[in-house]
Parts: sequence; C-alpha cells; structure tokens
Amino acid sequence: MIEGIGSGVAVSEAERILVAQPVRSGTYRAPPRALGQRLLVWLLRLAIITPIALMTPEIVAAIRNRPDAVAHLSASTADVLGTSSFLLFVMMLTITPLHVVTGWRWHLILRRDFGIGMAVTAITDLTLAATTTDDTFHGGFLSRLYGHTFLAAGTLATLLLIPLVITANARAQSWLGKHWRWLHRLTYVVWGLILLHLLLLFGFHGFFLRALALSIPLAILRVPALRRWWQASRQLHTHRIRRAVAAVALLGIFAAGFVPFITELAHKGPTAFIQHPIDD
Ligand code: HEM
Repeated sequence: MIEGIGSGVAVSEAERILVAQPVRSGTYRAPPRALGQRLLVWLLRLAIITPIALMTPEIVAAIRNRPDAVAHLSASTADVLGTSSFLLFVMMLTITPLHVVTGWRWHLILRRDFGIGMAVTAITDLTLAATTTDDTFHGGFLSRLYGHTFLAAGTLATLLLIPLVITANARAQSWLGKHWRWLHRLTYVVWGLILLHLLLLFGFHGFFLRALALSIPLAILRVPALRRWWQASRQLHTHRIRRAVAAVALLGIFAAGFVPFITELAHKGPTAFIQHPIDD
C-alpha cells in the first residue's frame, strides 16, 4: 500500500477518491447510466443518510432535555456512527477496485458521495463523543477525545477528514492544482488510523481482524502492477479463469470482513432508533 502511494497510478487513484472523475479537462460529469443503474445509485445513496436517521430520535430527545437522552447517545454513538462511518469509508474505497475488476463506470459518482457521507457521519460521532460520553470517559472534554490512545486515533482520523471533505469539489481541485493530490493522499493516513483505532480497541481479535481482512482485497487491487495487468487482460479478454478465481477469492475475503460490520449496524441501529440502546 505504502509503495503504491508513491507511484503515478496510485496517486491518480488517490486523487479521484473524493472527487467525481474528470471526463475532460475542466468538465466534471458522470458517465451516462441506464435507468436501472440510476435507481441503484439512488438506492445506495440512501445508505449515506441511514446512520444519521437512526440516531435522530436520540439526538432530538437530547435537544429536548428528555431524561436519559444523553446516556442513550453515549451508549449508541460509537456503535452506530463509528460502525457506519467505517462502512461508508469502505464503500468509498470499494469503488476503484470494482472499476478495475469489472470495468464499470456507472458507480464512480458514488465515490464522492460516500466520502462526504462518511465525513459527515464521523464528524457527528466526534461531536457526540465530545459532548455525551462523560459517563464512560471522566476528566472533561479533552479526555473524551484524547484520554486513551484509541480515542486519539479515532479523533485524529476524523479531524483529517475535514480538509478532505472541504476540498472534495472541482473548484478546490483546480485552485489547489498539484497540491490537491498530495492533500488527498491523507485518505490513506485515515485508513491506517482507523485500523489503529480498532487495533487499540479490540486487539488482534473481532472487529480489528475483520477490518484488516476487508482491507486486504482493497489494498491488493490498488497495487499498480496488478491493477494494470487486470485492466489490460480484461480489455484483451485474456486470463479469464485466473481473473475469475482471484475475483472470487478477493470477494470472499472482503465479505468475511464486511458482513459482520453490517450485522453489527443491523443489531445496534434499530435499538438506537427506538431509544433502547444496547450498552456494551
Ligand atoms: C473515522 C472515524 C471513526 C471510525 C471509522 C470509527 C470506527 C469504529 C468502529 C467500527 C467501532 C466498533 C463499533 C462497535 O463495537 O460496534 C468503534 C468503536 C469505538 N469508537 Fe470509533 N470510530 C471513529 C472515530 C471515533 C471517535 C472520534 C471516537 C471518540 C472520540 C471513537 C470512539 C469509539 C469508542 C469509545 C468505541 C468503543 C465502543 C464500544 O465498544 O461500545 N471513535 N469505532
């Protein structure tokens, strides 16, 4: 992964992570999509608003000063918003490998949407952690954000999203010129910090191992040589069996890591929504 960041191919990949792909110099538009693809894009966009929707009843209850509302937020925020931020981040990172493997372009528009959705979700998580988790992390505002190394890693990852999300548009890209791609390499730092956050929380078990597992195919398909080989053989219709076997293996590893996070959100999200959060 680190080797890949320095190469021309990986730089242009990092460059496209949060911004819609340029079609022609100075022109930003999505490739034409069939009706089914447009519907799928909109359906996937629903995933972006789901986490905040799940948390809205608890947030509204806290604003209205309802009893136990802050305790509910404290119990739910990391489980619902932390898991959702991670899922949206992974969905954003999946866009490029999916393009490499299949050649699809209809979904590229979602890279920016998932990136912005992830940043908004993580910043909301940080805000709620800073204001509601006093019952768990005593010692004031700073201890709630930096009192443990796993909190510091989560906080730093979230703060690094701020310059990324502010510059995730064509105007910022043209204003920053060649510095833009350097800035957007921060995406890889955020990736590393999230893994560190989970490693410090769970050790070499549970969610850390799952996050590591799903990161493997996403990282492998960014290795410039492999990426070039895959794209060329897809276009030339060669090495079909090798590519099929590799695709199934990579998808299997990805699913083994991804599905438990979805299950976690499906378990904790509804309980947060009905304001009976599971406090573990
Ligand atoms: C990029 C931002 C972040 C991501 C992607 C992220 C991701 C995650 C994930 C996936 C979990 C496991 C959730 C579970 O056990 O159900 C988690 C747990 C946790 N996160 Fe984060 N997190 C982020 C930022 C933060 C921040 C800013 C804080 C607080 C300052 C924080 C505090 C926690 C805590 C306390 C837990 C443990 C929750 C528990 O076991 O109940 N996270 N995070």
